[in-house]
Amino acid sequence: MSLLQTLSLFLITILNSNWVCSTTEFVFNANFNSSNLLLFGDATIQQRHSSSSSSNDNNNNKILSLTNDSTTFSMGRALFPSKIPSLNSTNTSFSTSFIFSISSVNGFQPGHGFAFLFTPSAGLAGASSSQHLGLFNCTNNGDPDNHVFAVEFDVFKNQEFQDIDDNHVGLNVNSLTSLASEPAGYWVGEEEEEEDDDMEFKKIELKNGVNYQVWIDFFDSRINVSMAPAGKRRPRRALISESLDLSDVFLDEMYVGFTGASGQLVESHRILAWSFSNTNFSIGDALVTRDLPSFVAASEGSRGLVVGVSVGCVVVVCGLLVIGFLLLVRKRRKTNKDEEIGEWERDYWPHRIGYKEIHKATMGACCGS
Ligand SMILES: *[C@@H]1O[C@H](CO)[C@@H](O)[C@H](O)[C@H]1NC(C)=O
Ligand SMILES: *[C@@H]1O[C@H](CO)[C@@H](O)[C@H](O)[C@H]1NC(C)=O
Ligand SMILES: *[C@@H]1O[C@H](CO)[C@@H](O)[C@H](O)[C@H]1NC(C)=O
Ligand SMILES: *[C@@H]1O[C@H](CO)[C@@H](O)[C@H](O)[C@H]1NC(C)=O
Ligand SMILES: *[C@@H]1O[C@H](CO)[C@@H](O)[C@H](O)[C@H]1NC(C)=O
Ligand SMILES: *[C@@H]1O[C@H](CO)[C@@H](O)[C@H](O)[C@H]1NC(C)=O
Ligand SMILES: *[C@@H]1O[C@H](CO)[C@@H](O)[C@H](O)[C@H]1NC(C)=O
Repeated sequence: MSLLQTLSLFLITILNSNWVCSTTEFVFNANFNSSNLLLFGDATIQQRHSSSSSSNDNNNNKILSLTNDSTTFSMGRALFPSKIPSLNSTNTSFSTSFIFSISSVNGFQPGHGFAFLFTPSAGLAGASSSQHLGLFNCTNNGDPDNHVFAVEFDVFKNQEFQDIDDNHVGLNVNSLTSLASEPAGYWVGEEEEEEDDDMEFKKIELKNGVNYQVWIDFFDSRINVSMAPAGKRRPRRALISESLDLSDVFLDEMYVGFTGASGQLVESHRILAWSFSNTNFSIGDALVTRDLPSFVAASEGSRGLVVGVSVGCVVVVCGLLVIGFLLLVRKRRKTNKDEEIGEWERDYWPHRIGYKEIHKATMGACCGS
């Protein structure tokens, strides 16, 4: 009997007949299945083997994948099957923790990210891929009628949403423009008395494939978000701590879950474990951080070689193009002494297509700029 099995999904719903007081609590430790999650779009449950072969016979880890690695403009959403009740009560609270991995996919620049969310309805209506993260679309972005609260993990800097960088965590209410955001990372050290001097900030690269644990707590109209590599203790100081009134956002009952998207930029978005409670603020301790599958690229060295060879090929091809082009220009010059040839030359000069231009080319027609 393994710990994984012992800690496998349990769901307690206490409904007191006299007081309308209800508790929702659940824990998933790499044991997602299609009967304990609602899946939409490209979200799937995948079987993975744990990184350590020494572990028990329970190697049939079932994890959640939000987007499809082999297609562009993929999006997917996974929700807990029943709505969370009593969210808009005056003293509402919740505590959730999950372990995720964002890893790159061969042949693609990585993008765009995923979010933990509360949403009034099941499905993907009103969401689009790419920079919209499967959360909103360009028509409803910013609309208070969305009633969506989300915490985004975003690996692309979208100027139109005032993103702070290409590796941030943000609080989003009805909009992709975050109310507050911070570069991904965590604080280490003891918070001694009033002095914060002993605390050190460690940066996290969201998309490096590493399994990270996240803690999100909401109590007394304050939201705290922390993260750290899976297996590390919960940081004493939160990455984001903001006072937040969600009474205009939370309907009485809402779905809770995850949504993610790729675009022209592709990466995988995986959720390995997830716990939720609206009374127990230690529910994150129920997540098992040992023997998790690993999605870190096999070897940075071999990746370096691949990059080196690719860059080499590009340089050679560009070189040949330039030589060909110069020969062509020289030939034209011989036959045509027109001065405008200089202009023509500049217009057709091959130029590097940058990350930003790729991104611009991926923008939908209605969301330009
Ligand atoms: C899904 O998980 C639940 C709880 O862990 C279990 O009772 C159920 O049999 C599983 N369903 C399938 C199809 O594996
Ligand atoms: C991903 O998309 C490809 C191409 O559309 C499809 O063949 C494949 O089945 C999809 N994978 C999953 C896990 O849905
Ligand atoms: C809210 O407060 C009421 C009354 O004090 C209490 O019975 C209830 O359990 C509280 N609900 C939550 C979610 O804390
Ligand atoms: C955005 O979603 C809404 C539904 O919420 C829909 O009416 C609208 O047409 C969608 N806009 C686009 C551009 O897809
Ligand atoms: C959030 O962090 C603040 C500051 O550390 C702390 O006072 C508060 O109790 C925390 N709230 C929750 C819900 O964890
Ligand atoms: C939530 O409750 C507050 C106070 O009762 C109310 O003003 C607000 O309109 C409610 N929000 C929603 C979205 O229903
Ligand atoms: C809260 O959850 C943790 C982790 O599952 C557990 O150890 C603890 O006993 C729970 N606390 C309460 C009051 O239920």
